[in-house]
Amino acid sequence: MTDTSVMEDTVRWLTAPGKGLLAADESQPTIEKRLNARGIECTEDNRRFYRSLLVTTPGVADYIAGIIFHDETMHQSTDDGEPIPEACSARGIVPGIKVDRGTTELPGSPFDEKITQGLDGLADRLVGYRQQGARFTKWRNVYEIGRGTPSAQAIEANAEVLARYAAIVQSVGMVPIVEPEVLKDGDHGVERACEVNEVVLLAVFNALYRHKVIPELMVLKPSMAVAGKQIAAATPETVAAYTLRSLRRTVPAAVPAIHFLSGGQTPSEATANLNAMNNAPGPRPWTIGFSYSRAIQDPVQEAWGGHTQNREIAQQAFVHRARLNSAARDGRYSPDMEETA
Ligand code: G3H
Repeated sequence: MTDTSVMEDTVRWLTAPGKGLLAADESQPTIEKRLNARGIECTEDNRRFYRSLLVTTPGVADYIAGIIFHDETMHQSTDDGEPIPEACSARGIVPGIKVDRGTTELPGSPFDEKITQGLDGLADRLVGYRQQGARFTKWRNVYEIGRGTPSAQAIEANAEVLARYAAIVQSVGMVPIVEPEVLKDGDHGVERACEVNEVVLLAVFNALYRHKVIPELMVLKPSMAVAGKQIAAATPETVAAYTLRSLRRTVPAAVPAIHFLSGGQTPSEATANLNAMNNAPGPRPWTIGFSYSRAIQDPVQEAWGGHTQNREIAQQAFVHRARLNSAARDGRYSPDMEETA
């Protein structure tokens, strides 16, 4: 029988009042795209400097409970020579690790859909990460909304690997973040996003049940039901209503926390939508928080610009965005707070 006490402790930490998560686990091609878009060269040392800047930001532990890293960061050190995962724990932030190995073509799909890979050797990799201080993990699946997609085949196959991942992670005493990301690409409305979220989450929770994943010891990281990129955004109240509808119909009340991804929303949009969710009428049996990457990091990377001397203003931008999302997590955010750094 697995000793669940460490996982219980980790879950308590990840759901601490007023706090959320930062996803700083971009793969090499993704971080390269983000940095290059701001004229920043994506060298190994720039990535190290930037991610160490995030971890050592004074005061950010008041709003950020955990940071999800990419494998590379687990082996890098801060400017003071402290291993980044240790620097993170020392500041009261729990380090986590992305363990999937990205997406690949799903054979047999007539729509060129994707499946996430990385199950082979996962249990062995986890042992190493745990020794480095990681206490939780993340695995991301992607689902595109289109004509005929996501197909039943993609929904089932992806749910199966996500559940197998979560079961392996719990078997070594770590907490799995389960991330079924329904992409924002397309011209669908919020109703369709809500329907797709619902069918995807149903399959995921079915598979989690099949693989005996303990719902009390995991965190769900879903997409909000937002309109596709090609059409105008819905109001925060509409996004909140549709998102909560899909969650209430599918996510057991036993799951302690839902920490959303931002999925290409602007920073203020992602904060406003989270805030609306926490003010919406009706039952919300889970903590509703954030695990954003772009919606927190965009202004930080903008402020840094690849220049060492901008370290402090970049850190201020990080604390500011983290504080706003912390307020939204409690339904206390208002747009005029954007101006006060
Ligand atoms: O895998 C994606 C991250 O976990 C969330 O990123 O907030 O930019 O969508 P995002």
